[in-house]
Amino acid sequence: MQLNVNGKSHDIGDIDPSTPLLWVLRDTLGLVGTKYGCGVGQCSACTVHIDGQPVQSCQLPVQSVADARITTIEGIANADGTLHPVQQAWIDEDVPQCGYCQAGQIMSAVALLENTPTPSDADIDGAMSRHLCRCGTYNRIRKAIHVAAGQVPKTGSAS
Ligand code: FES
Ligand code: FES
Repeated sequence: MQLNVNGKSHDIGDIDPSTPLLWVLRDTLGLVGTKYGCGVGQCSACTVHIDGQPVQSCQLPVQSVADARITTIEGIANADGTLHPVQQAWIDEDVPQCGYCQAGQIMSAVALLENTPTPSDADIDGAMSRHLCRCGTYNRIRKAIHVAAGQVPKTGSAS
């Protein structure tokens, strides 16, 4: 089976087609930036993009995405190696604590801004509502999304 991940075609061999995409990404392709949190569709730590939409990869049989464009956290930086504006805002706003949920959070934030470039708080809360963060970084996530959208200056900037 072939998978298109981060703009490249990968031969994943003769794999059980019911294997969740998360395991293929992490164990077959070594893309361990996508995290395993609950494994049962409750936390969204495993979020990737399927044809540009955020999806929980722990719930997705790999066969169902054989013809899709898959993007992981490893694939969102710019071609010149600079970080995606959402990644940069996460750093500027010092968002992560333990970090475990953050790759999934970033993937949903990137998708949100592609569809809604200047989101309201309600837009953000709606887009991020399926993500659990045991460290309680929700307020910093909301701020960082506004920073990435250019709606507010980053923390520490002169106003
Ligand atoms: S690991 Fe997929 S939703 Fe929790
Ligand atoms: S930063 Fe620790 S779970 Fe979110």
